[in-house]
Amino acid sequence: MKTHSLLRGLGFYVPERVVTNAELERLVDTSDEWITTRTGIKERRIAAPGQATSDLSLEASKKALAGAGMTPDDLTHLFICTLTPDAYCPPSACILEEKLGIRGRAAMDLNAACSGFVYGLDMARAVVCQNPEARVLVCACDVLTSRTNWADRRTCVLFGDGAGAVIVTSDREPKRPGDALIRDVRLSSDGSLGHLLTVKGGGSGTPMGLGDAVGDDFFIQMSGQEVFKHAVRNMVAICEDVLAANGLTGPDIDYFIPHQANWRIMEAVAKKLGLPVDKVCATVERYGNTSASSVGIGLAESFETGKIKVGDKVLLSAFGGGFTWAAALLEF
Ligand code: UT7
Repeated sequence: MKTHSLLRGLGFYVPERVVTNAELERLVDTSDEWITTRTGIKERRIAAPGQATSDLSLEASKKALAGAGMTPDDLTHLFICTLTPDAYCPPSACILEEKLGIRGRAAMDLNAACSGFVYGLDMARAVVCQNPEARVLVCACDVLTSRTNWADRRTCVLFGDGAGAVIVTSDREPKRPGDALIRDVRLSSDGSLGHLLTVKGGGSGTPMGLGDAVGDDFFIQMSGQEVFKHAVRNMVAICEDVLAANGLTGPDIDYFIPHQANWRIMEAVAKKLGLPVDKVCATVERYGNTSASSVGIGLAESFETGKIKVGDKVLLSAFGGGFTWAAALLEF
């Protein structure tokens, strides 16, 4: 018998500090008008000095555990999906485990760039299929402002920090109102296009020596227009894939939560899928592009604010560096 997986708790956290477009106008040669019309972003949240991925993850995870009616002791696995871990070593998932006051769990970080949340869901599904007793915390979190070049107007206006967390279990325990069945997930990637979106400096391919100055390549670099085109094309294709495999089309979907990089991308994907914009989750205006966490934040906030109801079919889709992209179909 096939084991199905459930999402049992949803939580998100964004830092307190709000940075508006007006504030960025004082930093680089940009304007609220340019940022708003080209991206849909009005403001973003920035982590406080010393506030790392494990700190944001802790807040989101506590909320997901509360939503699932669980305590940290109930967890068997902790995954943090991130491209901005606290450190290369130890993994942020181990730091989070310690902050949650538990030991002896399977804990690791996963990096699928901005597709991290949906990739993490599928990895958790695999664990649950193998071990139906597993209770897997999937927390997608990025503090991308730690790798933002505040002198580069092409990128510094885009990103914000945040975390989105869920608990994945098997469906052996009955589905409660608010739980979601993970009906299907699709993942994909294309490494030949990785050079279009990078954070290279300090990695083993671009090592740094003691006392070296940090260069441009230490920060996020992106060929925006190229990424835009691939994001639309691949998100549409993978959404169509997962819908067709489940006998559905776009109009069957009650709510769509795409990666929150740019409202124009989200609108174009929704249009091609035949989804009206009022079914599209949009946090991008308030949080900017929160990288791996954006779909998790959108999911948790949409549930909290009643935009997702029991019985709804929800489509998730992500796209990011690698390139990686993904789609998932949930049933609440
Ligand atoms: O999360 C991972 C996935 N990431 C994405 O999906 C991001 C995809 N890309 C995008 O969202 C868009 O390409 C951007 C928002 C990054 C850029 O928008 P665009 O409409 O593609 O602008 P562009 O890069 O073609 O730049 C147009 C003009 C340029 O000026 P010139 O050369 O035409 O004179 C830029 O120098 O806008 C200029 N520009 C800016 N002007 C004011 C670029 N950034 C800014 C800025 N303020 N912040």
